[in-house]
Amino acid sequence: MSDPQEYIDQNIQKFQDELFELLRIPSVSTDSKHKAEVRKAADFLKNQLQEIGLHNVTLHETPGHPILTAEKCPHTDRPTVLIYGHYDVQPSDPDHLWKTPPFEPTVKNGRVYARGASDDKGQSFAHIKSVESYLKTGTELPVNVKFILEGEEEIGSTNLVPFIKKNIEQLSCDMVLISDTAMFAKDQPSITYGLRGLAYMEIHVTGPNRDLHSGVFGGAVENPANVLCEIIAKLKDEDGVIQIPGFYDDVEPLTPEMREAYKALPHNDEAYKEELGLKALHGEKGYSSLERASARPTLDVNGLWSGYQGEGAKTVLPAKAGAKVSMRLVPDQDPDKISKLFADYVTSIAPDTVSVEVEAHHGGYPVVIDLDFYGLKAAAKAFGEIYDKEVLFSREGGSIPIVADFKKVLGVNSILMGFGLTIDALHSPNESFSLKDFHRGIKTSAKFFEILPDFVE
Ligand code: BES
Ligand code: ZN
Repeated sequence: MSDPQEYIDQNIQKFQDELFELLRIPSVSTDSKHKAEVRKAADFLKNQLQEIGLHNVTLHETPGHPILTAEKCPHTDRPTVLIYGHYDVQPSDPDHLWKTPPFEPTVKNGRVYARGASDDKGQSFAHIKSVESYLKTGTELPVNVKFILEGEEEIGSTNLVPFIKKNIEQLSCDMVLISDTAMFAKDQPSITYGLRGLAYMEIHVTGPNRDLHSGVFGGAVENPANVLCEIIAKLKDEDGVIQIPGFYDDVEPLTPEMREAYKALPHNDEAYKEELGLKALHGEKGYSSLERASARPTLDVNGLWSGYQGEGAKTVLPAKAGAKVSMRLVPDQDPDKISKLFADYVTSIAPDTVSVEVEAHHGGYPVVIDLDFYGLKAAAKAFGEIYDKEVLFSREGGSIPIVADFKKVLGVNSILMGFGLTIDALHSPNESFSLKDFHRGIKTSAKFFEILPDFVE
């Protein structure tokens, strides 16, 4: 019988076929039209977890999408790793920009193209296959493992927070292992030790009781689209500084040591610009691109609508305008506090010629993980060994809201061992994931379980 690493090499084709089956399920959590498919993805994973031999495989109902848990805990004196992942995906929209169908996995140049390939089906599936490599070869699992897979990460993990609060005992562990981030560069194993938080808002501006002829009424009636643009323009100044009073009050400043660590990372602004097809970079004055994109808070319009969007011209003064605005947060900003500051500020600058309403969507707290944690050291060793390269530690700009709750509620650190790349096009058309990284990811996970007991302090 082969050992786990050999088993992974011998079965990589089968693992890929299984992953592709999962990628064919359009489990878009934000869209109620896809509710049944989100469950189908959960059912698929439930079968997988049962089939590889885990215990207590359970699908838990929530007011939203189900949560899947499972475990195999053969030891009383070894660490317990809780593996977290999400089986929901972002919408594939805009569909016409996909070169191959978003839910028909297609392999090109060693990469699989499909929505969710990297974020997070391919990455989280790697851990299931890693556990399988122990159980199917009859090799004793070196540590205890538990799984928690959710279907609402892309919509803020609202139902997962109460779930972990209610199931503290069942989820008790020494660390959480998550692969839902990106490596710093191709073939460069990287561990993420910081994530930004999020506050997501929606602004609604309402003017006249119906759309109006812009010639007959324009000039005498306030235009909600114009007002919305004025409001948005007042959210930041020309140096990229956010103008909401109190916004920066709790921002932890970057220390000289942190700034040195940023400078030491292999990054090239020219290449970054080129890869994105940009003429010039932009951001908060006084900070580098890497700092701006991971250690500084931001404010961005994510959606904007009003007036006529069809072909040609229509002379109309729209009755309504709206925008979705997200703010990425850094330690020690609090999403609820920031949402309130945003709402107060927008309301305070709104003219009384229209009505302006501000609504808060989901949020999440920022996190920074202690680099001295023994689990992180074991992860770095395993990652470095499989990739045959020293691991880099970096902070990232994206958010995984539940990470802060794992710390707060379960009292444990998360190890963010991402196998993705920034070129994977997460949330964009033509998302993809390197099949080589899928393979190396499975091997890294198995290696991590193997060496973790030696690192316990
Ligand atoms: N996998 C991402 C987060 C991520 C991507 C972190 C790349 C670091 C690097 C995750 O699935 C995600 O997109 N999260 C959302 C959370 C939000 C909806 C609350 C995000 O960051 O927009
Ligand atoms: Zn995502």
